[in-house]
This record gives sequence, C-alpha cells and structure tokens, in this order.
Amino acid sequence: MNSTDIFTNAFSSMSAAGREADAVPSKPAVRVKELSERDRRRLLMHFLGLNNSDRLLRFGAALPDEVITKYVQRIDFIRDTLFGVYDSKLKLMGVGHLAFASRDALPAIHGATDKERVVGFGVSVSEVARGMGIGSKLFERAAIHCRNEDVDTLSMHCLATNQIMIHIAKKSGMEIHRDYGETDAYLKLSPRSPGSVMQEAVEEQVATLDYDIKVNTCAVAKLFNNLRGFKAD
Ligand SMILES: CC(C)(COP(=O)(O)OP(=O)(O)OC[C@H]1O[C@@H](n2cnc3c(N)ncnc32)[C@H](O)[C@@H]1OP(=O)(O)O)[C@@H](O)C(=O)NCCC(=O)NCCS
Repeated sequence: MNSTDIFTNAFSSMSAAGREADAVPSKPAVRVKELSERDRRRLLMHFLGLNNSDRLLRFGAALPDEVITKYVQRIDFIRDTLFGVYDSKLKLMGVGHLAFASRDALPAIHGATDKERVVGFGVSVSEVARGMGIGSKLFERAAIHCRNEDVDTLSMHCLATNQIMIHIAKKSGMEIHRDYGETDAYLKLSPRSPGSVMQEAVEEQVATLDYDIKVNTCAVAKLFNNLRGFKAD
C-alpha cells in the first residue's frame, strides 16, 4: 500500500465515522431563559403537570394542586431567580428555581461560606422532555448565575433514590452527603470573572431571541388559524 492509499483509506474511514456521527440524531439546542412575573401561569402549568412521584422528588412531598398553586403564587421574582426552557408553543418544559437566603437561614452550610447569601436549587423537567439535556443545562445556568451574584456555595436537597439528579450533581462536581434516605449536595463555585459574566449575558441574549421568535411564530399561526376560520364561515 503506497502513501496515497494510506491517505485515501484514512480519509474514507474518517468520512464513514463522520457519516455515522451524522446518523446519530443530535439533541436540539437547549436555550435557558430567565423567567419573570409574566411566566407565573406557565410555571403553574408546568408544576401541575408533574405527577405525584415527580412532585415527591422535586418538593420532597407529593404536594396537592392547591399547595403547588400557593407555592407558585408566592414565588418572589425579586429575591429569587427562576430559569426556564420553553417548547415551540411557549410551554415551560423545564424550570430551575434558585432560592436565595441569608447564610443564617441554612445552618448546614453556614460554616462553608463567608458570603452573606446562600442559595438552594430545585429543578424539574416535564416527562416528555427528559433525557435531552434540559436538566443539566438548567443546572449549569444556575451555577454560573450564582457565581455572577457573588454566591460561592450552591446547595441542593434530593432523595437518595433520585439517581438521575445525583448523576447530574456528580457530573458538575458537587459534593454529595447522604443521610437517612436524603441527599444534600453542595457545589463550591469559583468567583465571578469577566468570562462568566459575558457567558451568562450571551446565553440570555440568545435565549431571548429564541423566545421572541417563538412568540412571533405562535402569533402568526394564531392569525392564520383565525383567517381560516373566518373563510370557512
Ligand atoms: C432530574 C431531572 C430534572 C433531570 O432532567 P433531564 O432533562 O432529564 O436531565 P438531563 O437530560 O440533562 O440529564 C439526565 C442525565 O441522567 C442520566 N440518567 C438517566 N437515567 C439515569 C439513571 N437511572 N441513573 C443515573 N443516571 C441516569 C442520563 O444519562 C443523563 O446523563 P448524561 O447527560 O451524562 O448522559 C428530571 O428527571 C426531573 O424533573 N425529575 C423530577 C424532579 C426531580 O427529581 N428534581 C430534582 C430534585 S430538586
């Protein structure tokens, strides 16, 4: 085999590998956007869509609809930060909630930080949208937001049986403490940097653009349907 053959063979096996990689369906891009007051109803729909076992994993108890409704009504968008991932119809497929509190409110991590504030993270993804990286992306965004907010410890509480969440937590380097069927996970965060601030700003810009496109597409589809109905009358 001469050098040209070697090159040709190497090239064709590389192309075959490329074709194989192309054949694997790639996960759609996940855009994580900060939520605001106007998302309260969508948040309620998202949480009410969780079944009892998901509610148990997310809230530590299989909360009834009335309690979930009160929880959503009480979300304080000024103190806390919520992130979401929308589908093409603007339904929330994933929600991450960063609940900020003073250091004294969480005695378990009081000694682990010198900062004034600590933060607890809760996340949920609708059943139909799982396994596409939404939970991990919400987690990454939450961590970078904490860094930029001058918080150095992110904590999360979950059941010890919640293997998926424990996998996500470990993947991101969280320290895991197991205790009587419950798990507390802590992530020490690096300080804010120009890069982390820029990264979050760019992610938010892209997610906002994506959201605006979805809003406009939904509006056009609605108009089109109205016109069709009008013609049919
Ligand atoms: C936990 C939850 C948020 C994950 O959301 P998701 O969008 O499916 O998560 P992702 O797709 O980003 O990641 C799932 C990861 O778990 C892995 N995984 C799936 N099943 C698993 C299992 N049985 N054991 C361990 N890991 C598992 C996947 O391979 C993937 O890892 P990878 O990215 O390294 O391949 C979602 O399952 C959920 O909403 N559960 C109910 C609420 C909850 O448990 N909240 C957490 C407590 S606050």
